[in-house]
Amino acid sequence: MAHVSMTVNGKEVSADVEDRTLLSQFLRENLGLTGTHVGCDTSQCGACVVHIDGQAVKSCTALAAQADGTSVTTIEGLADGDNLHPVQAAFREHHGLQCGFCTPGMIMAATEMIAKHGSSLTEETIRDNLEGNICRCTGYHNIVKAIQAAAAEMAPAAAAE
Ligand code: FES
Ligand code: FES
Repeated sequence: MAHVSMTVNGKEVSADVEDRTLLSQFLRENLGLTGTHVGCDTSQCGACVVHIDGQAVKSCTALAAQADGTSVTTIEGLADGDNLHPVQAAFREHHGLQCGFCTPGMIMAATEMIAKHGSSLTEETIRDNLEGNICRCTGYHNIVKAIQAAAAEMAPAAAAE
C-alpha cells in the first residue's frame, strides 16, 4: 500500500491506495472525479489527460503514488463556479464536441498548449500537440477552431505569464 497526498483542484486529498493504482483510477474511483475519461488505458487516446503541476499528463500512464505531493487539475477544476473556463466556452461556441468522450482530455491538452505557447500558438502547433488525443467522432476541425478561438481570447494573459 502507498499513502498518497496531493492537491486536486485546489483541495488537499490523501488516501491509502494499492501501489499499482493509476492516477486515472484514483481520480475516478477514490475521488469520484469521473470527468477524467478512460478510453484505452494504454496511453493512446488522451481522454484521461489532467495537469500535474501545470503539465498535461495522461493519467492512465501515471501511478497515483507518482503524483504524491503534486498539484493536480482535472476538467472539474477549470470552471469558476457557473462560469466556464474560456477553453470550455470556446468548445461549446465552436461545436468542438460531438459525443463528448474525448472532450475533457482535449480541453486539458488545449489549456496547457495555450499556457505554453500564448499568442504564438499556430494551427500547425495545435494539430501537432493533439497527436496524442484521439476523437473517435473525428471532430478535429472544430476542435482546432475552438482552441484557436480560446487562444486568441486568452493569449494576452498567457503571453504575460
Ligand atoms: Fe489514457 Fe487513453 S485512457 S490515453
Ligand atoms: Fe466523440 Fe471526440 S467528440 S470522441
